[in-house]
Amino acid sequence: MNIGYYQSHPVFGEVSKNIDQFAAQLGSVNCELLVLPELAFTGYQFVSQDEVLNLSEPVPEGPTTQKCVELARQHGTHLVVGLPEREGDQCYNSAIVVGPSGFVGRYRKTHLFFEETLFFAPGNSGIHVWDIGQARIGVMICFDWYYPEVARSLALQGADILCHPSNLVLPNCPDAMVTRSLENRVFSVTANRIGQEARGGKPPLTFIGKSEVVSPKGKILHRAPIDQEELMVLEVDVDEARNKSINPYNDLLKDRRPEMYGIDVKREA
Ligand code: ACM
Repeated sequence: MNIGYYQSHPVFGEVSKNIDQFAAQLGSVNCELLVLPELAFTGYQFVSQDEVLNLSEPVPEGPTTQKCVELARQHGTHLVVGLPEREGDQCYNSAIVVGPSGFVGRYRKTHLFFEETLFFAPGNSGIHVWDIGQARIGVMICFDWYYPEVARSLALQGADILCHPSNLVLPNCPDAMVTRSLENRVFSVTANRIGQEARGGKPPLTFIGKSEVVSPKGKILHRAPIDQEELMVLEVDVDEARNKSINPYNDLLKDRRPEMYGIDVKREA
């Protein structure tokens, strides 16, 4: 199966232009799954709720989802794309999954980062896995990586590939995703962006690039540069993610002992 990412450099607010730029490159690749960044076509650093309301769209009726469906059909591929979703007067930092047969599903970011908490509602979609034929894919968005429960939940639901649209500004995630892959024996595809945004007099945000594909054994199969756009596809054997045997005595997921973890213990304030 050919999978990959689009590491982009969107211009804030120029949604159609950013989509057109992506569409123009899509013809040059042959893949079954491509992951795009968080808020892939709008840009990231919002300065007001009005701005978010104006740039967000209902899913799946909105123009960005519809355009992505059209591109997925045209190119016979699945796309995972971050976008601001609007439902009534609530906005979510979401990602859609679309494929050759149309809209597949949506995920709303569970763990909001920094000023996203001002503009978006915490995701309420739950954490999901979709079977797209050649693989079962799960979606998590950027800062969700900080909560290993998300990747674990996806692995326990049978995900072979973690699709991870991102707008990374902290340095740690690319290396951390090696652990998320290793501890769950899954592929991960982190799609990040590059460039800087400094809007409305706010301190600049610099996006760190380093999009990557990591194998179930924690090998970085490819990592992008920090400062260049890149559309990258490589071939993987999905079965590698389905073998959870570490050695004849240990099976990664079967050997879990949830009764020992006390995971529901409430932390004292
Ligand atoms: C992030 O969640 N965009 C860092």
